[in-house]
Amino acid sequence: MSGVTIRNLGKAFPKEDGTMTQALEGVNLDIRDEEFICLVGPSGCGKTTLLRIIAGLETA
Ligand SMILES: Nc1ncnc2c1ncn2[C@@H]1O[C@H](COP(=O)(O)OP(=O)(O)O)[C@@H](O)[C@H]1O
Ligand SMILES: [Mg+2]
Repeated sequence: MSGVTIRNLGKAFPKEDGTMTQALEGVNLDIRDEEFICLVGPSGCGKTTLLRIIAGLETA
């Protein structure tokens, strides 16, 4: 196995008021072996959440 393949990944966090924050939706990503990837976007767009899911620290 090599690289990272992500298909239609989503993540929602529950908020205190009972509604959900949709942190990620419909994420598709192909990272090949030895590729160098930068994840760029504004604060709160889901960069850390995506990395945590890839690392296995968070469920999708
Ligand atoms: N543990 C958490 N509980 C609730 N909401 C979260 C949690 N982690 C992230 N979020 C929310 O998910 C969205 C994406 O956050 P995050 O992945 O930290 O973005 P970034 O790293 O791009 O700044 C934000 O709306 C943030 O408030
Ligand atoms: Mg972050």
